[in-house]
Amino acid sequence: MATLDLSSITKSFGTHAVLGGIDLAIRDKEFVVFVGPSGCGKSTLLRIIAGLEDATSGRIVIGGNDVSQLPPVERGISMVFQSYALYPHLSVYENIAFPLRVARLPEAEVAAKVGRAAGILQLTEKLQLKPGQLSGGQRQRVAIGRSIVRNPKVFLFDEPLSNLDAALRGDMRVELSQLHRDLSATMVYVTHDQVEAMTMAHRIVVLNAGRVEQFGTPMELYHHPATRFVATFIGQPNMNLLPATVLGQDAAGLTVELDGGGTMTLPVDGQAQKGDRVEVGMRPENLHIGPGLTMKVRVLERLGGASITYGMLPTGQRLCAVLPGDAMIREGEELSVAIAPADAHVFDASGAVMRRRQAPALAA
Ligand SMILES: Nc1ncnc2c1ncn2[C@@H]1O[C@H](COP(=O)(O)OP(=O)(O)O)[C@@H](O)[C@H]1O
Ligand SMILES: [Mg+2]
Repeated sequence: MATLDLSSITKSFGTHAVLGGIDLAIRDKEFVVFVGPSGCGKSTLLRIIAGLEDATSGRIVIGGNDVSQLPPVERGISMVFQSYALYPHLSVYENIAFPLRVARLPEAEVAAKVGRAAGILQLTEKLQLKPGQLSGGQRQRVAIGRSIVRNPKVFLFDEPLSNLDAALRGDMRVELSQLHRDLSATMVYVTHDQVEAMTMAHRIVVLNAGRVEQFGTPMELYHHPATRFVATFIGQPNMNLLPATVLGQDAAGLTVELDGGGTMTLPVDGQAQKGDRVEVGMRPENLHIGPGLTMKVRVLERLGGASITYGMLPTGQRLCAVLPGDAMIREGEELSVAIAPADAHVFDASGAVMRRRQAPALAA
């Protein structure tokens, strides 16, 4: 059982507090992604789990054993970095075998383990080549092979795909998800890319300035973001946020007046007073053509299946809508778009969400 439990992990570099008390319970065989903007502390947290960095305080428990005081090699983890860190003069075989050589395993055992890892990673034909003869994606697979042969309890990945071009990243996402299934191991994967997080994770930890904003499945984060930060970080294009003032609250929900004019009654619960300032969140894909907000179309991106429409409201605020591919719209024209009230999100002045009543059922 390779559960991973973090309790009250803090980290400061001198007087600079980087992690502010992280508590997480990661399940056996789970694929968890840490996502957040650059500098929010993702790598620091991963390096603390690996034992490459000491926490200022807190406890790390892997498979029920407190490893907080153990050196990296005794923690049962292995880590794959963005830079592949391969030995250029060694063959693929010897690069993968490296940790086994260090452990002085007999040749037959080395051959069996390298052979198995190479099979899983489709590197069997490449074992005699040098890293310089491989593509970027193949090199990253060699680095992953080196971590597989150690048979760790927990795999740690720090932005392993960031050096690859977009098409290859897409392929590698699928391969890593497949690898997770083949190995059925616990994996923690760090990225700043919300698409990687959404596509690969069982559960996502959204980090912001050294704190956990939300820990949940991709669809929980998409449909039920707990904060404004999560709402705008998850989803592409980003959620629109329209400032508004509360007019009142009753059984039907919260009635607000948008700053640009127009009232909406939103089926959300929470404490709000007349006059409170809120923001109404509208995902671009939830907007459709219809009477509502009038915007001037500034840029139209025809993707074929969809038209990403960037416009400006009379207030000067920008609004993005994902409309049908063949929508009869043109740059420079005025266009009205609307949203079903049940699809809107509402955030209070502190950035916390007001709970939606009829949010869509979550996919399993
Ligand atoms: N060794 C270090 N010394 C001082 N500050 C550091 C060190 N490592 C990271 N930091 C700081 O900690 C913060 C988080 O860094 P990091 O964990 O690398 O972020 P991320 O991986 O999310 O981009 C940043 O402000 C960074 O400058
Ligand atoms: Mg990092």
